[in-house]
Amino acid sequence: MRIINICNLKGGVAKTITSVNMAYVLATMGKKVLVIDNDKQGNTSKFFGVYGYEKPSLAEIMLTKNTAEDVIQKTTRENIDVIPANMNLLTANRNVMLDLNSPQQTRLKKALAAVAEQYDFCIIDNAPDINMSVINALTAGDDYIIPVKIDRFTFDGVDVMIEQAEQIRENFNEKLRFRGCLVTSFRKNDVNRQGQEYLQEASRYKLFETHIRWTEKVDESTFTCEPVMVHSPRCGAARDYKAFTAEYLKSVSDSDTKGAEK
Ligand SMILES: Nc1ncnc2c1ncn2[C@@H]1O[C@H](COP(=O)(O)OP(=O)(O)O)[C@@H](O)[C@H]1O
Ligand SMILES: [Mg+2]
Repeated sequence: MRIINICNLKGGVAKTITSVNMAYVLATMGKKVLVIDNDKQGNTSKFFGVYGYEKPSLAEIMLTKNTAEDVIQKTTRENIDVIPANMNLLTANRNVMLDLNSPQQTRLKKALAAVAEQYDFCIIDNAPDINMSVINALTAGDDYIIPVKIDRFTFDGVDVMIEQAEQIRENFNEKLRFRGCLVTSFRKNDVNRQGQEYLQEASRYKLFETHIRWTEKVDESTFTCEPVMVHSPRCGAARDYKAFTAEYLKSVSDSDTKGAEK
């Protein structure tokens, strides 16, 4: 199971949209995908129809010795299961900070080990924060991808995110790799073009070649709780999410080949 973190310290940059649509593209390729909602807002859980307080959620993984199996929920989408989140994650994160008796950063990693054989990919939709469960997600992860929406405040957030993730790599998780920034909600105007050029030129941002075009179909798809490929298969964003997922898979296979040659 390859674990992909979708993260940015900013909200509203399409972390959730990217997580659910990338999961769907992988699922339609026949891959088994586990999606983890790592945001107390529970948007991803709501999207897949598994939001609520009756069943255990990610909070229980953070607080107890539950394995992932105990909290995974099936969805109506073929090949996609979800570990949901709700507001309990807020208290859970606080309690993990106070609990000095067992390791704080590796709880999710340990819980996921039990299901590693059952899935090809795990996509973690992170909160716009560096809290305990986000640190756990990056500690468990193979890759991280930073969706960005271009505006004046884009760049500060990305630099801090990369810095934080690199610290986690140094301290807890050597295998964590930065796969790149993904421009989302792209519109053909000067701000977007210039912002994209700036990101392209600064190699530390490793921009994906694909950008995700802005379309109102994406907003609509959040109301119908459908992947944008289902809601509007021919719209720009639907095609872009397919292209982006293919680009990601290629980057993984290229780096695996390079690693094998060493
Ligand atoms: N390609 C796009 N085109 C139009 N709207 C988009 C696009 N991607 C995201 N959005 C909208 O931006 C908002 C924030 O997206 P979301 O994924 O919830 O961000 P985050 O999880 O980073 O807070 C949502 O209203 C969503 O519909
Ligand atoms: Mg979100």
